[in-house]
Amino acid sequence: MIAAGCSRLPDAAYTLRTDVEKLELPEKHVRQISDYLAAYHGAPASPRRALPQAPAEEDASPAAGADEASEPADGGAGKAGVDAIPRDDKPGYDRLHLAHGRDVYLRQCAGCHGTSGDGKGPAAAHLVPPPRDYRNGVFKFTSTPRGSKPRRDDLRRILVYGAKGTSMPAFRFLPDEEREAVIDYVQSLSARGELEIALIREATDELVEEDDFDPERVAEFVTDIDRSWARAEDEMVRPVTVNPARTPETVRDGALAFAEMSCVKCHNRDAAGSKSADVGQDIWGRTAYPANLAMGMLHGGRRPEDIYRRVYSGINGTPMPASKDPNSAAGETAEARSERIWHLVHFVTAVIENNGIPAAEQEVIDEAMRKAAPAAAAPASDGAAARSPAPADTAAALAAGPAAAPATGPRP
Ligand code: HEC
Ligand code: HEC
Repeated sequence: MIAAGCSRLPDAAYTLRTDVEKLELPEKHVRQISDYLAAYHGAPASPRRALPQAPAEEDASPAAGADEASEPADGGAGKAGVDAIPRDDKPGYDRLHLAHGRDVYLRQCAGCHGTSGDGKGPAAAHLVPPPRDYRNGVFKFTSTPRGSKPRRDDLRRILVYGAKGTSMPAFRFLPDEEREAVIDYVQSLSARGELEIALIREATDELVEEDDFDPERVAEFVTDIDRSWARAEDEMVRPVTVNPARTPETVRDGALAFAEMSCVKCHNRDAAGSKSADVGQDIWGRTAYPANLAMGMLHGGRRPEDIYRRVYSGINGTPMPASKDPNSAAGETAEARSERIWHLVHFVTAVIENNGIPAAEQEVIDEAMRKAAPAAAAPASDGAAARSPAPADTAAALAAGPAAAPATGPRP
């Protein structure tokens, strides 16, 4: 076999989630999961991103196909079911293009992110934070609301700039065309991973041993996943108000907000985060650590609008909550809330520039915390962060692993 252009290809194979082993699914269901994944996403040697064809465009009624497919239940029925619904490559994702993305991926990314996108490449073992496991379909540094997919531009940004303070490199040198191809490939790996989770869920929750997967239902999963990516493109969070000029007063108010809006509960009064603050886990099943802002730990970009979005929307998959909701009980408007978030941005920027909280701002925070102390038994004055539910993203809900604990703040 000739492995033109990529020496690693012969070894490369997609692996199933190990959860499948733990769940002890029937052999037949495991095989059908593999078959469906291969049908829609191919293999590393021949990657695809296929979508079910719209029934209206079909001569044959898909219902008839589905009936036919669900009839044999002798354990070897997988294949017939898989092909019951016609598929076609997603427009713009022809196989040559994806193969190109795969070449770039295996060369530049798989060492950390793993061939299947599970974040377990050979170089990953000692990296903190670990490389992203794309298979949950959850990305942290998006310009979209919490729970949404990233926009293509978000993935471009992380590729061009990397994630400062982590091992995720900046790939500035990648030619545009390689960058676009690898983004498509990453999206495809992620969609594949989400389909896998959906199928495992279906097998554990809906199917009994004699059942086969319903090809129509699988087609629905594929379509839904694809739509979630498409939808994100229109969901960019635009700041509610424009960034005001930074003045000592805006920084000061940002410090006050840092205390009042519960940031101190996780990030500490010194903004250095705390290894001992128990803020729960992220959806990848690891202990979450509030960022050390004093050390400039901003993985999602340092432009003011990046920081604004992190605070406004929270960080997907982690306990870092969205702060976008105005405190309407206190009569706060959406505009006032947005203004405050900008002040927080100014404060965070000042902390980074100063390598720690400047003395005057520290005093503001400590004073506010002293005032709040008698009421400490009650929920935080702000409430928005404390009330924030666990990540609402579908992937988190689907994830076979433990979902992130609600962010109720540190406390044994
Ligand atoms: C040296 C290891 C390493 C290599 C090589 C690497 N990454 Fe990463 N990548 C990481 C780490 C670590 C993170 C997680 C950063 C975090 O959680 O803050 C990450 C995160 C990401 C994210 C997630 C961003 C988000 O918003 O959640 C994407 C997308 C990504 N990498 C794409 C790529 C692509 C594409 C390549 C190859 C062109 C690549 N990475 C190569 C280590 C690496
Ligand atoms: C429930 C705990 C919690 C609360 C409350 C909280 N954070 Fe965070 N924050 C986190 C965690 C955890 C991370 C790290 C996320 C990750 O894994 O990248 C983080 C990360 C950050 C980051 C870094 C973003 C980046 O680009 O890497 C900033 C900035 C930040 N928080 C600001 C704030 C502000 C401002 C507030 C108050 C409005 C706040 N946080 C409230 C837990 C919290």
